[in-house]
Amino acid sequence: MKNYKVPEGFLWGIATSANQVEGAWDEDGKGMSIADCESYNPNLSNKDYKAVNKMTTTEIKEAIADKSSKAWGKRHGVDFYHQYPEDIKKLAATGINTFRTSIAWSRIFPNGDDIKPNEKGLKFYHDLFSELKKYHIQPIVTLSHYEMPLNLVLHYDAWYDKKVRDYFVKFAKTVIDEFHDDVKYWVPINEIDSIIRHPWSSAGLVEDRFPNKNFEEVIYQAMHNQFVASAEITKYIHDNYSGSKVGSMITSTMVYPYNSDPRNTLKSRQVMRDSYNFSDIQLRGKYPKSLLIQIKEKGLHLKQTEKELDLIRKNTADFVAFSYYSSVCTAFDTTGLKVTKANRTVGVFNEHLETSEWGWQIDPVGLRVTLIDLYDRYQKPLFILENGLGAKDELTSEGKVHDDYRIDYLKKHIKQLLTSIQKDGIEVIGYCIWGTTDMVSASSTQMSKRYGLIYVDLDDEGNGSYKRYLKDSYYWYHKLLSFGDIVPENIF
Ligand code: BG6
Repeated sequence: MKNYKVPEGFLWGIATSANQVEGAWDEDGKGMSIADCESYNPNLSNKDYKAVNKMTTTEIKEAIADKSSKAWGKRHGVDFYHQYPEDIKKLAATGINTFRTSIAWSRIFPNGDDIKPNEKGLKFYHDLFSELKKYHIQPIVTLSHYEMPLNLVLHYDAWYDKKVRDYFVKFAKTVIDEFHDDVKYWVPINEIDSIIRHPWSSAGLVEDRFPNKNFEEVIYQAMHNQFVASAEITKYIHDNYSGSKVGSMITSTMVYPYNSDPRNTLKSRQVMRDSYNFSDIQLRGKYPKSLLIQIKEKGLHLKQTEKELDLIRKNTADFVAFSYYSSVCTAFDTTGLKVTKANRTVGVFNEHLETSEWGWQIDPVGLRVTLIDLYDRYQKPLFILENGLGAKDELTSEGKVHDDYRIDYLKKHIKQLLTSIQKDGIEVIGYCIWGTTDMVSASSTQMSKRYGLIYVDLDDEGNGSYKRYLKDSYYWYHKLLSFGDIVPENIF
């Protein structure tokens, strides 16, 4: 029987984000965030991701006027804010040694521009991190995960505004100073490339608020502001907390050529290069020439100072973090080809792969290809911060969830990961399953798109008892982690 050797100190974990689990949207001084304006739309198909991500000023005003929480998935989340001690106890029992979450900006600076942080917000995260410490679990913290104070959208120009960038840096420095004893791995911005695909949830950008501007230019300016903020945060951590590490995090969607027509290979390379632009900037310290050419060809004018570019140049990330769920194909001419979705990315359907109900194609080998690509490109340690399957689960009358499909997904991906470490020589810090308990979906605000190892009794309309049930995948992960450094082939 073949065994897999797990590298010493490898971090096995699970991941979530504040806005998808915490709830308590208006408790203990938390301000309203952009996530609190998102609701599930039953009239949209599971595959209509673009519509789910659109936001208008009118919709924001409607959301503000409605003070209830039931219909607004991210306002109630799964009540982690109150139930975290029990959730962590259950998750700790799987054997994990790391837990990734985000700190909600709107819990610490409710309006974003407040002079002082909200003490109750800081206390919540102190309590949460102490709870993790009890079980020897180290937190990995994202500072911006699809949740910013709504005030910064309504009274400023969201991430387009350099003042907002500075408020974010202030928030970051506040929590880094506060939690540096507990947190050694920081990720300034979740999936930093996502601003191009969904500028609302990533950067609070609403097109109708920029009537006299080219909205694409607004997005690219906000992107630049996020790079500058990340570099400033990286510098702050390196200057003050030398034992801590900072990651660049991208959405990694492997893109294959649809067939062996060289023009399709070229197209797939171009799409991949576009997504690597983001990690290139954060790991190599400069805008790639191809991106500069694109910006010029689009006629976009970015406000960038020499000082900002110097900051980006001198303060590069320590590790490459990424989410990986699926892959797509692409072609130079997609006319007549069947289209499908990856993590919010549209591509050409790959007939060799299975597809989830949300149109995401399942591709474990693509994970290995991604590891090779990223490692060869940057020669820096990699960290898989999200990998998992969003699926409909059924709770049996005995309180069980037989999610064999999720176990199958995890088995195949983790096997590729361990093979890649062993055979390809890839350096990987850790691996986190998305997610902890079930949680509200980022893209569709649904509960029925379940990722967790623990089932939560709650539906898309906010009905349910919030009771937790351990899924079969929970027990499988526990079994995997019980092997320690040597994982036997037969677990897969
Ligand atoms: C990642 C996000 O893009 O994908 C998470 O960082 C998100 O926040 C995850 O939940 C899965 O996406 P979704 O839309 O299915 O929840």
